[in-house]
Amino acid sequence: MTRKTSRSYRSIQTVLTAALLAGTATFARAAEIDLVVRADQPGDTISRFLYGQFAEHLGRGIYEGIWVGEDSEIPNTRGFRDDVIAALKELHIPVIRWPGGCFADEYDWRDGIGPREERPVRINTHWGWVEETNAFGTHEFFDLVEMLGSEAYIAGNVGSGSPREMAQWLEYMTAEGDNSLARLRRANGRDEPWKVAFFGVGNETWGCGGNMTPEYYTDVFKRYSVFLKGPRDNMPKKVASGGQNAETDWTEALSAGVRTTPDYMHAMDGISHHYYTLPTGDWSKHGRATGFGEEEWISTLWRTMLVDGHLAAQEAVLEKNDPDGEIGIYLDEWGTWYDREEGSRAGFLYQQSSIRDALVAALNFNIFHRHTKRLHMANIAQTVNVLQAVILTQGSETLRTPTYHAFEMYVPFQEATFVPVEDGEVPAYALGDVSVPQVSASSALTRGGDLVLALVNLHARDGIDVAVRVAGFEAAATSGRVLAGDAIDAHNTFDDPDAVKPAELAVDRGDGSFGVSLPARSVSVVTFSRRR
Ligand code: AHR
Repeated sequence: MTRKTSRSYRSIQTVLTAALLAGTATFARAAEIDLVVRADQPGDTISRFLYGQFAEHLGRGIYEGIWVGEDSEIPNTRGFRDDVIAALKELHIPVIRWPGGCFADEYDWRDGIGPREERPVRINTHWGWVEETNAFGTHEFFDLVEMLGSEAYIAGNVGSGSPREMAQWLEYMTAEGDNSLARLRRANGRDEPWKVAFFGVGNETWGCGGNMTPEYYTDVFKRYSVFLKGPRDNMPKKVASGGQNAETDWTEALSAGVRTTPDYMHAMDGISHHYYTLPTGDWSKHGRATGFGEEEWISTLWRTMLVDGHLAAQEAVLEKNDPDGEIGIYLDEWGTWYDREEGSRAGFLYQQSSIRDALVAALNFNIFHRHTKRLHMANIAQTVNVLQAVILTQGSETLRTPTYHAFEMYVPFQEATFVPVEDGEVPAYALGDVSVPQVSASSALTRGGDLVLALVNLHARDGIDVAVRVAGFEAAATSGRVLAGDAIDAHNTFDDPDAVKPAELAVDRGDGSFGVSLPARSVSVVTFSRRR
């Protein structure tokens, strides 16, 4: 896959190495910082859709990872792994994007309906050239979505499919009454229409989704979306396929070229955007998931935080072309992308997930919260066994990755009210020419009325003491949880699945402020319970 990068890793690596050899690398020292949580200045609601998932027909992501079939020896319900479903339920997943990714633009939805033994077997030409049995199709996807209490985000096929195929898929899913597609759905076992909350019109149409230009795709979007119709009360939000990284040309072309008037036939509710974190920023040598040095630790965190600017760049375009705020940004693929694990199959994108990934997730969340007005959705790539997965499986075993724990610790932020945090002077954590703030913070008033404060200590080696003052909120009690690792690549294995898991964090109550000690390389969430 060819990617454009904004900065060559080689140059950073060279500078880092040179700095280390010359003994000029500088390290931030542990220091105390003061934070003020401004609960008296509540902002926007943090959309729960910022905590979305993405599950593609890729590697062992769906087959084995989520769905094993009714005849499997692995305990399952209607073919879904009980262990994985139980773990996913705890994350309160708000939305799942499916079936791709690149797979979406080669998927024929009719292959995945009807009796399983009669479904055609295709080749997954994008991911590993493996046989796709189509055992997991539309009915299985909605079964998953309904089990998890999530919303469905369908990615339609623009690259190799027709507008008619796309329109008929939506009709199959949403049709009421006595018509052929509704009858077919009923014959296949589903009486009521499903709710389709979001529909993506193609994926990465700049690449695997059809190799188009922004201008050409803008017209293609209009053509496809005009036929995408559902009942008035079950009309999905339509998401156009956008760009990646810092680029804005897709957001520019689409927001200037597509009308958004509600009910207008080819209305567009959002533009997709993708951003993956590579430790090196180099698609020919990404960097490893474990066994890396501190240079790749800090470069990974620094590159993660670039998403702030990438989102701001899209927002600036939208403020210009869509001042009324009709169009949302859908960051429907984000996460780390490392070199293939030794021994894993090419094209399966299987990778370990360490404490570094938990920090990547938490940094993303803290940034997403600040963009919640325009950022309508974010989906980590991907749920199980693929890229920055929340769960890994091996036969009948599963483990929750540090990324899983970060998602679980941030559940209270879903639909909470954003609260600004004044962070005075946060010390820098620097290595060579790479520098990041040592602490990232985000706070919100939960729907239950509590105040939560997330704190990330980015430093690879130093802990830091934080003093927190809270304005406009009277805390009756406090509690804290911390996720840390005993090394920069600490991770869970099938032999030791709980090596990295949340522990209690002591919160000291002082005179007018609270104190917490953040260990090196950690994610913490402090809860201030309101007086009840
Ligand atoms: O998530 C893996 C792949 O990354 C997706 O299929 C594609 O959209 C992106 O390039």
